[in-house]
Amino acid sequence: VCGIVGVAGSIGERLGSALKKCLERLEYRGYDSAGIAVTGTGGITVRKGKGKINEVDARFNFTALDGLSGIGHTRWATHGKPSDENAHPHVDCTGEVAVVHNGIIANYRELKEQLMARGHRFISDTDTEVIAHLFEDYVKAGLPALVALRETIRRLKGSYAIALLYSHEPDKVFFARNVSPLVIGVGEGFNFLASDIPAFLNYTNRVITLHDGEYGYLTPSGIYVERNGEPVNVEDRVRVINWSPESAGKEGYPHFMLKEIHEQPRALRETWAGLDMDYVSKLGKAIAEARRVFITASGTSYHAGLILDYLLVSLAGLDAHAFNSSEYRKYIKLVKEGDILIAISQSGETIDTLMATRVFRERGAKVLAVSNVVDSTIPRESDYQLYTNAGPEIGVAATKTFTTQLMILTALAANAALHSGGMGKEAYSLVLNELEQAPDLVNTTIINVEARVRHIAGKLAVKTNAYYLSRGIGLPIAMEGALKMKEVAYVHAEAYPAGESKHGPIALVNQEFPVVFTVTDDDYLDPLEGNVMEMTARGAYTIGILPSRHYAKLGKVFTEVIQTPDASPYLLTIIQSIPLQLLAYHTAVLRGYDPDKPRNLAKTVTVE
Ligand code: F6R
Repeated sequence: VCGIVGVAGSIGERLGSALKKCLERLEYRGYDSAGIAVTGTGGITVRKGKGKINEVDARFNFTALDGLSGIGHTRWATHGKPSDENAHPHVDCTGEVAVVHNGIIANYRELKEQLMARGHRFISDTDTEVIAHLFEDYVKAGLPALVALRETIRRLKGSYAIALLYSHEPDKVFFARNVSPLVIGVGEGFNFLASDIPAFLNYTNRVITLHDGEYGYLTPSGIYVERNGEPVNVEDRVRVINWSPESAGKEGYPHFMLKEIHEQPRALRETWAGLDMDYVSKLGKAIAEARRVFITASGTSYHAGLILDYLLVSLAGLDAHAFNSSEYRKYIKLVKEGDILIAISQSGETIDTLMATRVFRERGAKVLAVSNVVDSTIPRESDYQLYTNAGPEIGVAATKTFTTQLMILTALAANAALHSGGMGKEAYSLVLNELEQAPDLVNTTIINVEARVRHIAGKLAVKTNAYYLSRGIGLPIAMEGALKMKEVAYVHAEAYPAGESKHGPIALVNQEFPVVFTVTDDDYLDPLEGNVMEMTARGAYTIGILPSRHYAKLGKVFTEVIQTPDASPYLLTIIQSIPLQLLAYHTAVLRGYDPDKPRNLAKTVTVE
């Protein structure tokens, strides 16, 4: 996820200054590098570099730039580490084309090879640069710019919001959208383009949201949009937005946590698009062949690690051990060459996880880092890296970074199981096909459960304690649900294996004591039902999160039911995280707390 912006026309200030202000309002989408390009009668000027917008501006003075039109970018690295070269805008060989892009071009390697074979020279490691070169090829072949754009995007697979300058048509900003968001800001004598409305809200509040497959260009006085070569009339799509720029940063959501929960279909889609399956297969093989597999992480990432542990043991039949990274010392004498450590950290900076990484590596283990931040410390110090493409997470409580971790780790475990012989080809394909459905099923889940969850949150908001119980692969999800409830709503919530509850925890249960159950594995239905009945017999207020196929059997045994779409347990981990996140969020809000900034917590913990 990155932020892009474009403007055509005259807005009463230098374009560089306006673009910089727009980018500052998009910095929540990424902040590892920034850049601006403008074009006028003298061709295209590009200024860009690694760092936050203000740091890059201090080096290159964005504000001095002016022209007839311009584009800008604030980056969240996905392909290629944060560096001056990888910062956008990217240019073609002639310097006549400049491009900014948000999204992932899934087939960029193939395109890059074809273009290099045709003599194109590449400067960056990004997927984006292929767009500039493809466009260059088409205009050199004599196509008009708009047709060149259409032919360019026809070659792209993946997600993109693109803004492009072409020096031969300096009053235009060309654009295209597929999956990644892109909106137009309609002005008088100027028009804007951006990933998100707050970027230009200080200049205009008249907005057109572009749809997938649409492309075209802005001029100072006009907006031209096409789809599949046919003009699209967008005039009747103009909406007037009444948000303040501050609330618009959250796209109209009251909190970043809620926005990020709702963003999960997109985050999952981009994570899937960014996975190089050949590489995942290679890692799966390394895991299957390792002497022993260790998994380390903290907090929410640790719960994702427990899911990986469950899958590696039960599906792949491997000798895997997950541990909280602050407890790594226990394993020091055990680690040897031939072992592999999978270190999971969305920020890539958590000191406990970093310490475990260093110690395991020193003792000869290979380390695979799973992170959301390209080139952060843990991936940098590891042998292999896998990245979730969730985009920056602003809310302190992890939401979209967790479900995207689950997606990657499940794909990884399935590959390990294929190599270890724990899983056949057919079963493997089923898991992968299901993971691909995750964005759509998560979207359906969000739509279907929110009202029900809000009702239950109303009951939980007056409680001080809750249990979260499950069996099998659902247990780490229950643990994550309890952690979310504790950290944002300040309700004391504890998770246990459901079968363990009668060995002590049940002593606390009395009339109306809330007990949340996540139901995932078919194998555990009967004993789980027994555990619900034990709670009901003590007057507990039981909440069952269950896929629709279990409704006939278990629908009536709970006080409340949150029904989710059907899926195998591998995908239910992702799906069932959604109601648990929403339950914590709504309970926090009803109790009067700000879920974005839980007390005593920091987004990245860099002390041991
Ligand atoms: C909980 C949460 C924390 C983090 C933990 C590890 O919502 O966000 O528990 O999961 O601090 O952080 P990373 O994944 O950055 O290592």
